[in-house]
Amino acid sequence: MKFLKNSTLFRLVFVLMLLLLLACGEGPEVGSMAVPSAPPQQTDAVQLTLGKQIFTTHCASCHGTQAQGAANWRQTDADGNYPPPPLDGSGHAWHHSTEVLISMIHEGSPQGKGNMPAWENKLSEEEINAVIIWFQSIWPKPVYDAWFEMQQRGR
Ligand code: HEC
Repeated sequence: MKFLKNSTLFRLVFVLMLLLLLACGEGPEVGSMAVPSAPPQQTDAVQLTLGKQIFTTHCASCHGTQAQGAANWRQTDADGNYPPPPLDGSGHAWHHSTEVLISMIHEGSPQGKGNMPAWENKLSEEEINAVIIWFQSIWPKPVYDAWFEMQQRGR
């Protein structure tokens, strides 16, 4: 009787260990499979046309006609604020998720701490989305892919 009980216990422990091993073994694989390859950059012609138009009308005067930003954007001005950075993929904009980009455009610089205007009462959600889609469409592909992967990991 005692022997039987022991072997049942042994089997149970064995099965548990096997399950544990399987669970551990799957970890990294699931992780690497969870990141799908980046989709092609935004190509919706209607959104791109609207986005480019919004950018030219409202953003280009500061961020540059090609979203190249101010030449000295990494250094503070005489007033202690940063000049408009590039949005063409050569700056930091790609470090931000869509949600963060939307809120930066909505709210602008924190009060008294920068010269980016707030757009929440001037542009619609659709217009803000379109302008983001437009400047993302001119990011070099490796930059867009890196942004996309970061965005996926943040989810
Ligand atoms: C009056 C000049 C001005 C205009 C117009 C302007 N910006 Fe800016 N923008 C700035 C400045 C200056 C910064 C840097 C903000 C800071 O230092 O707080 C900035 C920052 C940003 C950032 C953050 C970039 C990053 O790398 O973190 C985004 C995104 C942005 N602007 C988008 C826009 C969009 C879209 C428009 C048009 C709807 C626009 N801006 C219009 C001056 C401007």
